[in-house]
Amino acid sequence: MNMIKKNKNHILSVNLDHVATLRQQRHTLYPDIVTAAGICEQAGADGITLHLRQDRRHIQNRDVELIREISILPLTVEMSCSKEITDLMCRIRPEKVTLVPEKPEELTTEGGLNLKEMKDTVKRLMEEMQSEGIHVCLFLEPEITDIELAAELKCDAVEIHTGTYAHNFDARNTSRTFEELERIQKSVETGTSAGLMMNVGHGLHYQNVIPVAGIPSVTEFSIGHGIISRAVFTGLKAAVSDMAEIIKQ
Ligand code: PXP
Repeated sequence: MNMIKKNKNHILSVNLDHVATLRQQRHTLYPDIVTAAGICEQAGADGITLHLRQDRRHIQNRDVELIREISILPLTVEMSCSKEITDLMCRIRPEKVTLVPEKPEELTTEGGLNLKEMKDTVKRLMEEMQSEGIHVCLFLEPEITDIELAAELKCDAVEIHTGTYAHNFDARNTSRTFEELERIQKSVETGTSAGLMMNVGHGLHYQNVIPVAGIPSVTEFSIGHGIISRAVFTGLKAAVSDMAEIIKQ
């Protein structure tokens, strides 16, 4: 696998959930999501992502409405397969939604959708949103059969769950890292050949993102926790521009 390829077409969508986590912890007005989105834009981000969870633990409906209205960057909303949130998205109309599985007790999204089990629900909600001009992306494990099923269902994009890769990443012991990376690469190639836009996300940080950035046909990198954590020390602008530089090289 060629690990170093310049790819200026890779795009970075910054997930701002944890700006809202900090705000919701004290129910203050700060730190402000709209300000954060403006800084991301100035720092070279290509998009903003918000996860509107059913329990509204961080992002609130108003955040999605404000970013949709004010930010010039394309907005992706991560959402569970919920009819309530589908109706809300049909009203707010972000550029893209990513359907994810959601469990109330989880700390963060734990894996891709079980598409084989959920395909009827996914198709119904997806078609509702697509008819409003919203692109629909499915969050999936790097499993070839899932990618093929996603293409059959006619989604617009797939985001490959990189959490297992990220969790196993060990710069000193690369064998497990390479196994997972190869699964991601093969899935991206399968999806690209089927005409899908192929994205990646979850658990990516400034070290483990480098090999993934070597996969040329990935379109979008959806990254939150790593960037917001680094921003505590460097400021958001530097954290975003450092990440943008890595994924575009
Ligand atoms: N992609 C999806 C589908 C997610 O649910 C999340 C977490 O909200 C991310 C990407 C971003 O993950 P992280 O915060 O670990 O970068």
